[in-house]
Amino acid sequence: MRLVINPWLRSLVLVALCVMLVLGTSRTAKASTQEELSDITTQWQTSVHALNDINCASCHQSKETKEFLAEPNHETCQSCHEQAVDTFLLSKHGIRLLEGDAPLTPAMARLPMRQDAMQHQMNCNACHDVHSVNTVEASVDACLTCHNDNHSLNYQNSKHAELFAASNELPRPGAGAVSCATCHLPRVVAEFDDTLVHVNHNNTYNLKPQDRMVGDVCMNCHGIEYSYNSIFDPELVEANFDRPPTLELQSFDLMKAAEQRRTGNTSE
Ligand code: HEC
Ligand code: HEC
Ligand code: HEC
Ligand code: HEC
Ligand code: HEC
Ligand code: HEC
Repeated sequence: MRLVINPWLRSLVLVALCVMLVLGTSRTAKASTQEELSDITTQWQTSVHALNDINCASCHQSKETKEFLAEPNHETCQSCHEQAVDTFLLSKHGIRLLEGDAPLTPAMARLPMRQDAMQHQMNCNACHDVHSVNTVEASVDACLTCHNDNHSLNYQNSKHAELFAASNELPRPGAGAVSCATCHLPRVVAEFDDTLVHVNHNNTYNLKPQDRMVGDVCMNCHGIEYSYNSIFDPELVEANFDRPPTLELQSFDLMKAAEQRRTGNTSE
């Protein structure tokens, strides 16, 4: 029995430690109430992190200085999630952090963004509730806390959204569902181990050339013509694929596109 109880005791001690540290710190602008803390602890207890023995101190204590961290950032996640952090830092979302600039916010955007999100700072916790690490929420709802353009808003009218809502799989969205992340943060098989699937956090990677998404994403489920005829129709993209394609690219165009893709010689 001792073996079973001990990890829990240890976790409890760590929780207590964190609670004390959090309450004791006045460095954060948003002071935490008891209620918030118990919510956080409850979320964490059922998370993949708790199951893997990743506790409050794993994130809220600096590895080097052992100091308490009130606001862990991507560097905290890096030691365990190198691939996610590396790909994130190469993306439109993350590149400012790579360059040492202040984080991206919707106020800096050219695309339409939600008015109430203008000061939201982009980091891992912009999409992940870091205490529950629920990836279903991160896949659509989180995006729509900031994005407010027609394409993003139209997603909810699509068959893809129906599939996503019906899949209801936790903790990770099912392989048959199509979320914003399926297209923009696609799952990729690791080069060094084909049993490992990672999420490519580079949201810019498959936007250009335009047909990169066809091969990497659409063709997991649709044929080549269907995919090309969808993605090369700006209206259908703006409508977020809410109807079958009406464009009819000829085989010649498809071959030309495939050839351009093969040689990397695009006209962009
Ligand atoms: C996976 C890493 C991770 C773990 C594990 C973790 N936290 Fe956090 N915590 C964060 C991050 C990231 C933030 C957000 C900081 C910010 O706002 O920039 C945060 C914020 C907080 C806050 C501030 C309120 C808020 O929601 O922003 C409190 C309080 C807190 N954590 C307590 C805890 C407690 C207690 C535990 C253990 C039960 C815990 N955390 C476990 C990463 C973690
Ligand atoms: C000390 C190691 C460690 C740290 C630090 C850590 N994690 Fe994790 N994380 C894990 C492990 C272990 C898992 C479970 C196995 C896996 O999916 O890789 C996991 C899983 C996850 C998952 C997947 C959840 C799921 O449902 O599959 C997300 C998302 C995640 N972590 C985000 C974060 C974020 C964001 C941070 C930083 C704020 C962070 N983690 C910090 C070790 C860590
Ligand atoms: C904290 C707010 C925020 C959240 C959350 C967020 N984004 Fe973004 N995203 C932005 C901003 C700001 C830009 C830059 C837009 C611009 O420059 O016009 C951006 C850009 C993008 C781009 C365009 C990249 C490019 O190179 O043009 C894509 C695609 C994107 N986001 C997808 C997503 C998806 C998918 C999600 C959810 C999984 C998401 N975003 C979550 C703020 C956010
Ligand atoms: C734009 C939103 C967004 C941001 C920002 C983001 N993530 Fe994710 N992340 C997701 C989504 C969505 C998934 C699940 C996608 C899926 O499974 O289809 C995910 C999955 C994961 C996973 C599990 C899959 C894997 O590759 O191991 C980890 C770990 C993770 N994220 C860590 C991080 C870390 C660390 C950061 C910060 C560097 C971060 N994420 C930033 C949206 C985001
Ligand atoms: C079936 C795949 C798919 C889904 C699902 C999807 N998108 Fe897109 N998205 C695209 C494609 C394709 C483009 C590129 C359009 C182009 O460049 O012609 C795009 C472009 C974007 C852009 C950049 C627009 C620009 O003008 O630079 C953003 C931001 C974006 N999507 C956000 C989202 C969000 C948020 C969701 C979910 C609410 C979502 N997308 C769902 C395929 C998808
Ligand atoms: C995980 C599988 C999957 C992926 C990936 C996927 N789709 Fe779909 N898509 C579906 C399914 C299933 C349907 C519904 C088919 C039906 O009901 O006839 C669908 C429907 C559609 C429709 C028709 C919508 C309607 O109302 O009839 C279009 C257009 C479409 N997808 C385009 C795309 C494009 C473009 C991509 C890549 C950017 C893509 N899909 C990626 C599975 C997927």
